[in-house]
Amino acid sequence: MGTDYNFEKHWNNAYLKTPINSLGWYEKEATQSLNLIELCNLPKEASVFNPGAGASSLIEELLNRGYTNLTVNDISSIALSELRNSLSKHKHSEVKFVVDDLTNPTELLKLKNIDLWHDRAVLHFFTLKEQQNTYFNLLKKVLKPNGFVILAQFNLEGAKKCSGLDVVNYNEEMLQEKLGNEFILLESFNHTYFQPSGNTREFVYTLFQRKA
Ligand SMILES: C[S@@+](CC[C@H](N)C(=O)[O-])C[C@H]1O[C@@H](n2cnc3c(N)ncnc32)[C@H](O)[C@@H]1O
Repeated sequence: MGTDYNFEKHWNNAYLKTPINSLGWYEKEATQSLNLIELCNLPKEASVFNPGAGASSLIEELLNRGYTNLTVNDISSIALSELRNSLSKHKHSEVKFVVDDLTNPTELLKLKNIDLWHDRAVLHFFTLKEQQNTYFNLLKKVLKPNGFVILAQFNLEGAKKCSGLDVVNYNEEMLQEKLGNEFILLESFNHTYFQPSGNTREFVYTLFQRKA
């Protein structure tokens, strides 16, 4: 699928037709992400950015742990309204919602001083070099020196499609190459994720830190 495919419509449909907890990427608890976030040892007011957050339970878990400066993004406004509804018992002032396309960002270009960029299962949808370059240019523009990056994507043994779309499979070396040598790999592991259907998906989780 090229850049003319309507990805916004695709993702809005995905969230409209399936309840959050039946989606093929739903996690009741984002344990692997939370473990890596803990390793970063950030203060609770650190600015955490979750590109392509969808309706991820990670945001509620971060709020429950006391994080106060979260920014979430998605190309799907439906996904972000579902996320907002799921957080109704929290103060919305602690979460900024940004509907924007990571491969053609406008609002996202205003972000700055991000302490942690956390992406689970979003980058791997960007099959074109120019989409990947735009994504990594944005990351490098908005992330602070010493900032952390968590990338969790389908690994080389993983599925070749997700949500009916082609994906690029990654390993830690490929992610390191995309980030460049101003980023240091702190942690990496493979993880088998169980979908609500019981099927499995193979992920690589990586944690990088930008040099000072
Ligand atoms: C497989 S889901 C993962 C959602 C979430 N990160 C999680 O772990 O539960 C992929 C998400 O990326 C979003 N997405 C896809 N392409 C995007 C783009 N170009 N810009 C922003 N978000 C995008 C989708 O709407 C969807 O919510």
